[in-house]
Amino acid sequence: AIERTLSIIKPDAVAKNVIGKIYQRFEEAGLKVVAAKMVHLSATEAGEFYSAHKERGFFKDLVAFMTSGPVMVQALEGEGAVLKNRDLMGATDPKKAAPGTIRADFAESIDANAVHGSDAVEAAAVEIAFFFPGMNVYSR
Ligand code: CMP
Repeated sequence: AIERTLSIIKPDAVAKNVIGKIYQRFEEAGLKVVAAKMVHLSATEAGEFYSAHKERGFFKDLVAFMTSGPVMVQALEGEGAVLKNRDLMGATDPKKAAPGTIRADFAESIDANAVHGSDAVEAAAVEIAFFFPGMNVYSR
């Protein structure tokens, strides 16, 4: 099915100047950028976006990292977009990410892991609405 997923290019990858290289991977995999913006998140915004992880030990570091510089946020659309984007990203921990994935190629650590991607279609709708509240995410 045609899906949408929410992607974030994190502060480490923005600082490395690889936004274009990462977009190229999306495009070559058949994922289309249908909304995009660069933002520097506040701690409140980052904490709200990652509220599912609030009780985790890494939450504070996660919010600190995600507010350490600008991020590039995009909604991607395509056949099986959620899983396709997760395949492109590779494992959360770049040390475990398969060769040729975004995290294997551009990320340094589990915190500075270059990209975020929604983990399910339902989460994608919530995450897209968070960043792009005007978008119609109920198109089917
Ligand atoms: P992301 O897909 O953005 O979702 C939550 C983030 O928390 C994750 O990527 C990692 O960058 C970060 N994180 C830090 N430590 C962990 C951990 N132990 N397990 C999962 N995510 C972690």
